[in-house]
Amino acid sequence: MKKVLIISASPRKNGNTATLYARFAQGAQESGNVVEREFLAEKNIEYCSGCDRCSGTKRCVKNDDMRRILERMMRADVIVLATPVEFYSMDAQMKKLLDRLQPRYEELAEKEFYVILTSQHTERKELERVMELFRSFIREKLGRAGEAGCILGTDEKRTARIKDTAAYEEAYQMGLGV
Ligand SMILES: Cc1cc2nc3c(=O)[nH]c(=O)nc-3n(C[C@H](O)[C@H](O)[C@H](O)COP(=O)(O)O)c2cc1C
Repeated sequence: MKKVLIISASPRKNGNTATLYARFAQGAQESGNVVEREFLAEKNIEYCSGCDRCSGTKRCVKNDDMRRILERMMRADVIVLATPVEFYSMDAQMKKLLDRLQPRYEELAEKEFYVILTSQHTERKELERVMELFRSFIREKLGRAGEAGCILGTDEKRTARIKDTAAYEEAYQMGLGV
């Protein structure tokens, strides 16, 4: 039994990203794991102001929801980072979260990371480019060989039709295999 923490960055609760991570969660639960979720859009997470005080203290001076989220990440075995592509990148909520890992990212090196990305374009090229941002973080900062798995989904109409794509089943299978 593993503790799985899904970090959900899209503000749309029933959107494409949510559709895929819910399916992943279903698989992970069915294979006996405990799944928790953080919905970033409802959290107060300030941006990193680069003051560098955390380099000595390993603690951010900002007292916001990131403190509790970071503790939850530390307790998880598996972390799923889920975000839509927004203007050729991860969305703003996800970027703020990654920046705010600065004080303690080294402690995440033992975690298994999965990434769920959705976009409006059917071209995988764009999704792969965003996936590379996560891979850089996982490889360079955490020193891991790579992510444990990634789901790249597209939905041209933004209407949760992502259920009709291969990514929906892939998410379930990946969840089962956690
Ligand atoms: C502000 C904004 C920017 C976007 N930029 C892109 C983009 O650069 N490329 C793309 O393929 N889709 C883009 N999209 C579309 C979303 O990535 C796509 O609809 C995604 O599946 C939405 O996920 P959600 O339903 O979980 O919010 C953008 C959407 C928004 C709201």
